[in-house]
Amino acid sequence: NIQKATNVTEQKHHVSRDKRGEILGNLSGFRGCTIWFTGLSGAGKTTLSFELEAFLVTNGIPAYGLDGDNVRTGLNKNLGFSKEDREENIRRVAEVARLFADAGQICLCSFVSPFAEDRELARNIHKKNNLPFFEVFVDAPLDVCELRDVKGLYQKARQGLIKGFTGIDQPYEKPENPELLLETSKFTILECTQKVIELLQQHEIVP
Ligand code: PPS
Ligand code: ADP
Ligand code: MG
Repeated sequence: NIQKATNVTEQKHHVSRDKRGEILGNLSGFRGCTIWFTGLSGAGKTTLSFELEAFLVTNGIPAYGLDGDNVRTGLNKNLGFSKEDREENIRRVAEVARLFADAGQICLCSFVSPFAEDRELARNIHKKNNLPFFEVFVDAPLDVCELRDVKGLYQKARQGLIKGFTGIDQPYEKPENPELLLETSKFTILECTQKVIELLQQHEIVP
């Protein structure tokens, strides 16, 4: 049960979001937000998230990438890939992303996050805290992802060496209303990252 913490009271910070923005040298103030990349393994989440992280940081904009493969060796190393464990994975990451965003970072999250209700929870954690949240559907057909087989995981899943692999023997629920759709089998990495930058510009997160 995740409701074990009783008799706890919210403690108010003395530092405002504008102050945090100022400290980070943001001319236009606070720009903390979360960009949530979801999609099949091999769709391009890590590639796009880390390209953007590099682009933003190079341009003096604080950004940090949280990636499934990495978080699962640290914070979430006690979690597997059952529906329940994926839910807890996403819940913890969403809470961490919320803290990054509140601290003034552009937090780039790249997680398969195959279940709509878990992504909805991540969205609500941000909404509750008045932080912008952008869901980006990194979309490529399963056969394309399987052909790419970046880490050889599809082959293992087909051989039955990995159980509960998304798209093979576990579902991927497509986002119904993502803020952005990136079809990575139709557009280049550069074109896709450009679309994310444009989204951030439209919301006045970046100049
Ligand atoms: S989830 O569903 O959001 O909790 O998954 P995530 O934390 O993003 O972790 C996905 C990465 O773990 C590897 N991997 C698997 N993916 C999907 N299904 C199964 N069963 C699985 N087992 C291991 C894989 O490297 C995923 O990373 P990406 O970048 O998507 O390939
Ligand atoms: P994921 O993190 O979703 O599992 P990866 O980023 O590890 O996916 O792998 C995506 C693969 O697809 C990489 O080899 C990348 O070079 C390739 N690719 C081709 N076109 C694109 C694109 N438009 N966006 C992202 N990746 C792309
Ligand atoms: Mg990845």
